[in-house]
Order: sequence, then structure tokens, then C-alpha cells
Amino acid sequence: MKTKIDKLNEKLQLAHLGGGQKRIDKQHAKKKLTARERVNYLMDEGSFEEIGALVTHRTTDFGMENQIYYGDGVITGYGTVNGRLVYIYAQDFTVFGGALSETHAEKICKIMDLALKVGAPIIGLNDSGGARIQEGVRSLGGYADIFYRNVQASGVIPQISAIMGPCAGGAVYSPAMTDFTMMVENTSYMFVTGPNVVKTVTNEAVTSEELGGAYTHASKSGVAHKTSANDIACLEDIKNLLSYLPQNNTETPHTIDIEIQNEIRDVLSDIVPDNPNKPYDMHAVISGIIDTDSFYEIHKDYAENIIVGFARLGGKSIGIVANQPQFLAGVLDVNSSKKAARFTRFCDCFNIPLLVLVDVPGFLPGTDQEWNGIIVHGAKLLYALSEATVPRVTVITRKAYGGAYDVMNSKHIGADLNYAWPGAEIAVMGAKGASEIIFKKEIANADDPVEKLAKKEAEYAEKFANPYRAAERGFIDEVILPKNTRRKLIKAFNMLEDKKVDSPKRKHGNIPL
Ligand code: COA
Repeated sequence: MKTKIDKLNEKLQLAHLGGGQKRIDKQHAKKKLTARERVNYLMDEGSFEEIGALVTHRTTDFGMENQIYYGDGVITGYGTVNGRLVYIYAQDFTVFGGALSETHAEKICKIMDLALKVGAPIIGLNDSGGARIQEGVRSLGGYADIFYRNVQASGVIPQISAIMGPCAGGAVYSPAMTDFTMMVENTSYMFVTGPNVVKTVTNEAVTSEELGGAYTHASKSGVAHKTSANDIACLEDIKNLLSYLPQNNTETPHTIDIEIQNEIRDVLSDIVPDNPNKPYDMHAVISGIIDTDSFYEIHKDYAENIIVGFARLGGKSIGIVANQPQFLAGVLDVNSSKKAARFTRFCDCFNIPLLVLVDVPGFLPGTDQEWNGIIVHGAKLLYALSEATVPRVTVITRKAYGGAYDVMNSKHIGADLNYAWPGAEIAVMGAKGASEIIFKKEIANADDPVEKLAKKEAEYAEKFANPYRAAERGFIDEVILPKNTRRKLIKAFNMLEDKKVDSPKRKHGNIPL
């Protein structure tokens, strides 16, 4: 028996060594942790159970039969993060550069199937040279098997991808179909085709970092939801993200026990400037409302004219969508609409109530926006909020103009409670623009057109630049003092906790993509 046990131990030791010490040292020299170190850091101590440590590839071409590594370049298994079950796969760059073979893909699929059957989040740590070149189409088939499972799991269990090294070609599409893509700064990149192919096809000279590094995807493309300074920071970010999410779509997010007081937050009274054209930072409003330091921002550097992220309110997880007057005056445009729509749909899938903070002067005008399809992209946000059945509460802090008023979780598209601060302006447009149109002739014929415009503007503002017309019609449920907002929202979300909505029976809606 002893020799049999020794044999097992020897194999497991080999599996633990991945591609060997030399390649591990190379990985460390690039300031990257190994796959096993990453898994061990993420999981609660001693909780990780590996599945498939002794799997090997089946390739015999190109002398591959002589290059066998246990685990075949990916570590798969399950364990707990802060006491909650998660499934994980971590590609091991020390084995064939983490390249995906048929068996490597089978291991990932096995773990995805388990995660879906049991109903727990799946986390993929990507660090791979792509398809295992020696295997050809078998490897491509492996990718597609994973993609298919990504789609089956979508909206059922949270799926989180971290890019912690290369991720190129077909490999990018699994992360793209998961709910969140995190990237490590300077050591990760993602692209469909690399700089060499780009140079050949388009004659553009670009580095990997410029083409698909963390900064590029976090700020230009929006492919990355979050970036982290290094592997450890990325793994911490994943742990933190998980704390806001439920295990699956039949559960509600985990609640943290905190003592809820009838808190008045005076700080909220002084954030919005008197001058309606002056910007302010909506982050200050968010932190004035939520539990201290609980904001977890998503897409922080992308489409900064809208803010999205998770927070806790009275210990409960909520999703926040908020216009940001500090960037482009908080207008809705193509990118901000896509960003907010995707986030809204995630929250709705996973029973996370939505708080929408509104200060929006309308949609961004111009050929760039129109030719890039603002009509369809703006419709995404309108659609996503309209279809969301989670508790939905709106607070208008200042402007809610035009069609953007409708889009930003108005009562008309199914919001449960709509509040406005006393300085809110709910109107078709700003007083100046409105007066220029409806009093055009009067102003033109006046002895002093400038004075006339100012007079008409003041008249219009007096009539419409306030929340009371909307409140009179019940479009606004209550005009509230800013300092009472937190208290009101905690009560509102508690009241809405058991909300149930039956949607019409259908295969699925047809969101304008
Ligand atoms: N298939 C099989 N083996 C691969 C591989 C792949 N797709 N990508 C990398 N490897 C192997 C390398 O042969 C090398 O093996 P070794 O340790 O036995 O020498 C090891 O992984 C590390 O690769 P290396 O090129 O030395 O690492 P690097 O950090 O310098 O470069 C890449 C990383 C990903 C940029 C580079 O390996 C690469 O371009 N790979 C091919 C990418 C590709 O075209 N994939 C197929 C299409 S999706």
C-alpha cells in the first residue's frame, strides 16, 4: 500500500509544480503569481478542493506525447470565499503558456456544469496564450463548449473573469460573456488580433498595452469593468465584488448586520450648487446616502458621465445608477447608455434593488452620437430599466429634462417610488432653450430682445423649473429634503423587499442591441 500512496503523492507533487520551477520563476519575474498561488490567495484558507489535478492532454502530434503535465495547464475546483461556496478555474501559464487544449477545456466545462447545477458563482482566472496550437480544431471546439456554458449560466449564477496575463483571439469571448471582467494593470491584455496582425492588415503600429491593456479596456472600450494594480489587488477586488452578490438568481444578496438609525445626513444639503449650470460630484451624493465606504464602482473610467456600482444601504446590497454632472454635464450618450443598461440588467438578474439618482440635461446632440446610433443605444437603457422587476427607487437631485427624464427610472416606466429634492427641475428642457423656442417671435419683436429673453426665461423657470408640476400629477411621490434621503431610502427599500411582478409569458424580450 505504501508504494501506492507514494505513487499518488508523487503525481500530486508533480501536478503542484505545474510547468516546473524555471517557468514558475519566470512567472514571478513578470510580477505575476502562479495559478496555484492565485487560487490559494482567493479562497478561504484550507477550503480549496481541486478537481482533475491528474488530467493530461491526449495529443500525440509534434512530440506532445513526451510533454505531459498533470492538470494540463488549468487548476479547477471549488472552495469558499468569506464562507460562501464558489467554483474556480485558473489557467496555469507555466504549462504550455496556459494554452487551451481539449482536456483543459473539458476541465473548465466540468466545473462550470457543477456551478450551474449547484447554483454558486464561477470565477475564471485567465492567463493563457490562447488555443493550444498543437491541437488545432479540438482546441477551438473546447472554446465553444465554454462559450455555450457561459450563455447557459448567464443570469443564473454570477460569472466573474479576471484577466491576469495574455487573453487573445477566441479566448476573449468567454470573459466578454461573463458578468464582470477585471484586468491587472501592466501584466494583462486582451485583443481579438494582436499587434502583428494589426500591423499586417491595417498598417497601424500599436503595442499590446495600447491595443488591449487594462487602461485601454477600462477607459476606451469598456471591455474591462475594473482594473487592479497587481494580482493581489485583483483577487481582493473579486472577494469584495462577491460580497455584494447573491449565490444565484433565486437568492437575494447577502445582508450585513448593521444598526440602522434614523440617520439624518446634513452633508447632503450643501452638495448641489444654486446655479443650475454649475457641476458637482455625484459621488458626494452617493457617499452621503449609503453605508460608510460601501461603494464598489464598476466601469469607473469609462463613460464617466454616468456612475454605476454596488453599495450597501442599511446593510443591504443595492445597485446605483447615477448621472454625473461633473462630466459632460451628466448627459446620456451612446457609451453611458450602454454602461448603465448592462449594469441595470445584471442587478435585475440577481435580485439587487436599484437606486437611480437623476441630474440629466438630456441626450448629447451631434452627428457623432446620431451616426453611432444614440437612438438604439439610448433605447437600451430605457428598455433595461422598463423591464427590471427588482425594487426601483429614483431620486431627482436637480435636472430631469426631456426624454432623459422618462429614461432615468421615471414613474411611467415602472419605478416604484420617485423622490425629488426641492431644487429639482423636471421639464421638457432648460428655461433658456424653452423660452427661445416658444417666445421666438415675441423676443424678436421686442425693443430689447436680451431683456425680453431674460424675462421670459425667468417666467418659464418659475413655472416649470421645479418638482411641483410633476408632484401634482403624482409622477413624483414626494419632494424630500436632501438630508432625509438616506432615511427615506432605507425605509423605501425595506417596504419594497417582497415586491413581486409577473412579466408577460414570452421566450425573451428583444432588447435593441
Ligand atoms: N499553444 C501552445 N503553446 C503555447 C501557446 C499556444 N497557443 N502559447 C504559448 N505557448 C507556450 C510557448 O511555446 C512556451 O513554451 P515553453 O515554456 O515550453 O517554452 C510557453 O507557452 C510560454 O510562451 P512564451 O512565448 O515563451 O511566453 P511570452 O510571455 O514570451 O509570450 C504569448 C506569451 C502569449 C504572447 C506568446 O506565447 C504567444 O504569442 N503565443 C501564441 C498566441 C496565439 O497565437 N495563440 C493561438 C491563437 S488564439
